Amino acid sequence: MISGRWPRRACRRASSSSSTEGRGRDRASGEPTCLRTGPPRAAVPGRSARSQSGNEHLRSSRGGPFGIGPTGAAGLLWRQGELALAEAAAAAGIPFTLATPSMTSMETVAAVGGRQWYQLYLWEEVRHSYELIARARDLDFEALVVTIDHGLGHLREHNVRNGYQFPFRPNVVAFRDMARHPRWLYDVILRAGLTTGLPANVNYPEGYRRIVALDTGTAPTPPMKISMTWGDLERIRTMWPRKLVVKGVMNLGDARRAAAHGADGVVLSNHGGRAMDSSRAPLDVLREVAPELGGSVTVMVDGGVRRGSDVLKALALGADFVLLGRATLYGLAAAGRSGVDKAIEILGDQFEKTMSYVGCCRPTELGRHVLAE
Ligand SMILES: Cc1cc2nc3c(=O)[nH]c(=O)nc-3n(C[C@H](O)[C@H](O)[C@H](O)COP(=O)(O)O)c2cc1C
Repeated sequence: MISGRWPRRACRRASSSSSTEGRGRDRASGEPTCLRTGPPRAAVPGRSARSQSGNEHLRSSRGGPFGIGPTGAAGLLWRQGELALAEAAAAAGIPFTLATPSMTSMETVAAVGGRQWYQLYLWEEVRHSYELIARARDLDFEALVVTIDHGLGHLREHNVRNGYQFPFRPNVVAFRDMARHPRWLYDVILRAGLTTGLPANVNYPEGYRRIVALDTGTAPTPPMKISMTWGDLERIRTMWPRKLVVKGVMNLGDARRAAAHGADGVVLSNHGGRAMDSSRAPLDVLREVAPELGGSVTVMVDGGVRRGSDVLKALALGADFVLLGRATLYGLAAAGRSGVDKAIEILGDQFEKTMSYVGCCRPTELGRHVLAE
């Protein structure tokens, strides 16, 4: 189970400001609005499919119908955290999405092989974002994931309380926190500083590459394009030759528009509840989008997936694929590459078992009939 022991281990190991950043739990708002909050709660008890099929089809797709979504702060949870995530995903045969603010270079992650996707934020100075698209294209990333729900930034009171800021500004809470996590301090900051370099947004354009070290005020955050339009997506479509995915879609109208403007897939997502704290649950949006658009575009969903049964519920409601955020970050923060391997294995096993419990042999057999709605 990813939701109990692993987050606790992650918090013990990583500085709590960085792991709360990974966890994104906001005491003010409680758990993010996500898959776990909504019905359906239970699956229909069924005959075991394991005995009928041996579940070979599931074993061959080892990781199950899920991939690792973009999480910008992975390099703060573990030294070269994105590399560990990419390697674990490649070993499991599932996609890994490298986030725009990631701390490992696009080239290093592309060299891992496997199924690498690239997540793009559109900046006000769009030429910088276009350069990233060209780089991802030349590095053969399999898909481009354009995130549309983060232009306005966020309201994260928990980060005000726990002293987390990027780039780092000295404050008592953060220093106390670091002193309590010496292994993290040694590995992610000191050792990295002496070897691969202090965590920084290494893929940002020159002049914007903020490092975790003291904020000198020399590297501002690249402003997001808050006036992004569907025309921007059309332009990106002309630049990107492979699969194009729009992430952060939260209603049927936008899902339709994304498809009409060239998207091959959408990710129904509220950013893990990290942007607006009272948004709808993506699972509820899925109920509307999948019946309308399923089959014409790839419908993906994320938010609150912590167990294999969460994956199953999403697929039963019509999702083609599920993306993971914190589930694999917990594994990463607790034990690096082996922790991510473990998280993927746990989710895959739980998904397989739950499939058997509801009497389905393959994901395509899942449907609303297995849910107690
Ligand atoms: C620490 C952290 C960093 C994130 N960074 C990004 C990012 O850079 N780009 C992006 O599109 N989404 C980002 N997300 C959102 C995730 O891709 C995803 O939508 C969300 O985490 C799903 O919810 P879950 O964590 O409950 O699985 C981030 C999420 C977390 C927890």
